[in-house]
Amino acid sequence: MAHHHHVYSAENVSFLESGLRKLVMNPAKMLAPLVREGMTVLDVGCGPGLFTFEAARLAGREGRVIAADLQQAMLDMVQAAAKDDAMGGRITLHKCSAHRIGVTGPVDLILAIHVVHELPDPAGFFSEMKSILSEDGLLYLAEPAFVVSGKEFSETLNIASRAGFQIKNRKRGLLSRIALLAG
Ligand SMILES: C[S@@+](CC[C@H](N)C(=O)[O-])C[C@H]1O[C@@H](n2cnc3c(N)ncnc32)[C@H](O)[C@@H]1O
Repeated sequence: MAHHHHVYSAENVSFLESGLRKLVMNPAKMLAPLVREGMTVLDVGCGPGLFTFEAARLAGREGRVIAADLQQAMLDMVQAAAKDDAMGGRITLHKCSAHRIGVTGPVDLILAIHVVHELPDPAGFFSEMKSILSEDGLLYLAEPAFVVSGKEFSETLNIASRAGFQIKNRKRGLLSRIALLAG
């Protein structure tokens, strides 16, 4: 697989939270079919939290979202936003190390949005995710279509399969290549 894995700079968060991205990726629409009340959701490579807060809203009072990122600067942004947001209490921050996400499961849903191409070891990542996913848990994978080719995305899905995931569906969004994986 091609190696794109430089880590997205915390200085460029304005794109991640841009109006265009919110419009095209629409977190509310995207997550509504995935997040149920009471779920524990892991938002891995959460960045500034575009999907974190919407997941927390949908997960309800009993729900919990673990916002996990390698970069403290990203977690600081989530924490700052969480202070002024009623959803803040449902969000737990987690600092990853470069080679291990390090979250203890079980989690019901994993969001891996525009992050897997940045990881040094996708195979290790998928087996770690498989090990913390609850029974019937799902992993929502999205990769930026302008960075990851269709062929590379297929290779990523093969890696996920070898780690024990089942590919439930695959689709193409405007900005993303998307797949839903069952653990
Ligand atoms: C392009 S941003 C996407 C952020 C967010 N998921 C979104 O779509 O708005 C990728 C994020 O993955 C994080 N990341 C990169 N390598 C990582 C690793 N090894 N473990 C955890 N997070 C990582 C980066 O710090 C960055 O915040």
